[in-house]
Amino acid sequence: MSENSAPSALSIRLREETTDAHTRAERAPLFAAIFRETCPAPAMVSLLRGLQPAYKAMEAALEGHSEHPLVGAFHRPELYRSAALKADLADLKDTSEPVPGGVTYAKHIQEISEREPFLLIAHAYTRYLGDLSGGQMLGKKAHAIVGQDLAFYAFPDIKNPGAAKTAFRKRLDDMDLTSEQANALVAEASVAFDFNTAIASEAWAG
Ligand code: HEM
Repeated sequence: MSENSAPSALSIRLREETTDAHTRAERAPLFAAIFRETCPAPAMVSLLRGLQPAYKAMEAALEGHSEHPLVGAFHRPELYRSAALKADLADLKDTSEPVPGGVTYAKHIQEISEREPFLLIAHAYTRYLGDLSGGQMLGKKAHAIVGQDLAFYAFPDIKNPGAAKTAFRKRLDDMDLTSEQANALVAEASVAFDFNTAIASEAWAG
């Protein structure tokens, strides 16, 4: 960037600079199989189980930092997925252990929550905008694969996912960050994508 050019809005940077990581995530064979409706039910259930520890850690951390000057704006219970995941896994009578990548991801979130809480925003961005985007497409396939709709993909308190995404991006752009903080957040979003890709790969491998 030249000295005089204005820095890009954070939401634009996040989208542009995670494009490669998004492509890697999107190409995980598990998702292709879900879209083709050829995914074995246990693999989709394993994805949900694998995501559970990270959502639990992230949402506890977002709530715990609800008074934080940056993180506070991202304490948004209408987006939270932990309760939905718990309900889905109970309905599916799943008692499996999360894939190792799910445990590692949750530990990472706990660690940044203590060390550098504003980085939690990168994980909220990666998961919730993903859930409101590709997640909505995946959710439509759930019934064909696991035999029931999944609460995980439904946002009963959000009428318009597009408007919710716009509002989320505005919250990102309204933050007053130093360039170091913005760079760290964008880098952390790619880390978040890669944790998610690992979970999808492990759930697929069984
Ligand atoms: C299952 C395969 C996937 C498909 C088909 C897919 C599809 C999409 C699409 C079409 C958008 C653009 C939505 C829009 O502009 O309104 C999007 C955005 C997004 N997706 Fe995915 N996605 C997939 C997987 C994932 C995964 C695994 C993650 C991360 C966990 C993720 C995270 C995101 C994020 C954060 C955005 C918002 C980008 C931005 O506008 O800043 N996606 N996805």
